[in-house]
Amino acid sequence: MNPSLTTAWQQLGDHAQSLAPRHMRDLFAADPARAAHFSLQACGILLDYSKNRITDDTVRHLLSLADECDLRSHILAMFEGEAINNTEHRAVLHTALRARGDAHTFVNGENVIPAIREVRERCAAFAERVRSGEWKGFSGESITDVVNIGIGGSDLGPLMVCEALKPYADGPRVHFVSNVDSLHLGQTLAGLNPARTLFVVASKTFTTLETLTNARSARSWLVAAGGENAVARHFVAVSTNAEKVSAFGIDTANMFGFWDWVGGRYSLWSAIGLPIALSVGPQRFEELLAGAAEMDQHFRTAPLAENLPVLLALLGIWYVDFMGCGSQVVAPYNQTLHRLPAFLQQLDMESNGKRVRADGEPVEYATGPVIWGEPGTNGQHAFFQLLHQGTATIPVDFILALSQPGQVEPHRTSQIANCLAQSAALMQGKTEGEVRAEMSARGASEAEIEALLPHRVFPGNRPSNTLLLDELSPRILGALLALYEHKVFVQGSIWGLNSFDQWGVELGKQLASGLEKRLQGETGPAYDGSTEALLKYIAQ
Ligand code: F6P
Repeated sequence: MNPSLTTAWQQLGDHAQSLAPRHMRDLFAADPARAAHFSLQACGILLDYSKNRITDDTVRHLLSLADECDLRSHILAMFEGEAINNTEHRAVLHTALRARGDAHTFVNGENVIPAIREVRERCAAFAERVRSGEWKGFSGESITDVVNIGIGGSDLGPLMVCEALKPYADGPRVHFVSNVDSLHLGQTLAGLNPARTLFVVASKTFTTLETLTNARSARSWLVAAGGENAVARHFVAVSTNAEKVSAFGIDTANMFGFWDWVGGRYSLWSAIGLPIALSVGPQRFEELLAGAAEMDQHFRTAPLAENLPVLLALLGIWYVDFMGCGSQVVAPYNQTLHRLPAFLQQLDMESNGKRVRADGEPVEYATGPVIWGEPGTNGQHAFFQLLHQGTATIPVDFILALSQPGQVEPHRTSQIANCLAQSAALMQGKTEGEVRAEMSARGASEAEIEALLPHRVFPGNRPSNTLLLDELSPRILGALLALYEHKVFVQGSIWGLNSFDQWGVELGKQLASGLEKRLQGETGPAYDGSTEALLKYIAQ
């Protein structure tokens, strides 16, 4: 449906105009209980959304929008395995991958839970064999290094989680190669011993050019040291495509499968998470899944007004469609979450970077924002200037885990202080009066004050959410990732999109394959003037 035709959409438009002149400083001054009022807690995560340009009326209208768009039915349809990915005729069941207990989920009349368990148990058993040293390489030695070769969803999820959980890593070292640039693979392999290296070739389709190119080169590197027979001890595949895996030369006995109802960017919970189980152990991988399942349960059952993913999503829609914010920053304050912005970038932008609704009609409102970010406190010294004093208003999600193995003082205190300081500064800003008082207290002359005043004023009123994680444990990390998955789903549902296809990446892939031919001197299609000129320059 078209959300812009709802009553709530119209009301939100009017409401945004009436709220425009109000500063968050005044909203806080008017309501001492604002922080308590606009915060929610679930699954080890506190969401403080009080530093947003909202009032009770905003939240009321946003919840009405969710109701008018029949969000509840969308949520049910996803969990029940309906083919909500309508352009590919597929169910969307990453939630089934982490379902606990005696759950049943049916796809085309078949309960998929036993198959999910079977693969998970095989992955766990394999991970234990590698971790314990029982799995031997071609020389009879155990595995010390695992190289995951994949890209997009077959890379970012496991990479981000392995980094996030590094303090728990007690298995082989895990490395990730994604870029087709040979230096990525070359530099990764440079320090490794082929006899003790295991490759996980991860590709849902097993047709992705970058992954297959890297996998072939990795195979040659191994075979040069251990011969053809070494491949079976050093290559495993994670894919939905057994035929292509076998054609590549990996025995399907060494393949861990998943299913077409798992989207690439939602796949870390499947066998694509194998590097996580190898790094931190199957038990901690289970905890990650359990945390995600807790968030699924919360999402499915909590009233919309107390539902973390729903609120986060509605706030996002408020900024994108009613405040004209085309971009959103993710700022994790724990260094091991450094790949979270990149992961969320794919999750959000590949899901909701769409200009037509699921029914094929063009949207006449803005959809997915640009997601970007870096860990704090590094970002503070790079792009936060623009957040504070630039012309655009860019909402920020501050994410901070309050404890993590290996944290020590005084770093932890400084980490927390910086995170809280930034959201406070963005919200309150600094007035002319405050700048004047501060400068004259330091003895600045009137002339100097006048000259610097415009530069030292911060407008404030810049929105942010703060997400505090009780700890950066596998369980709470799982809950955090599921929270964002569902946020993206809610936004897509309200915008009327199919968040689970990604046709937009196809054109570039097609052109690249034709261009490869031309670069290799074969005849191929002609291109536009610019591309032809570039080809000519490269050929010189
Ligand atoms: O090109 C986009 C994409 O299809 C992503 O959606 C996906 O995660 C990635 O490529 C990798 O695909 P595969 O796992 O099939 O290699």
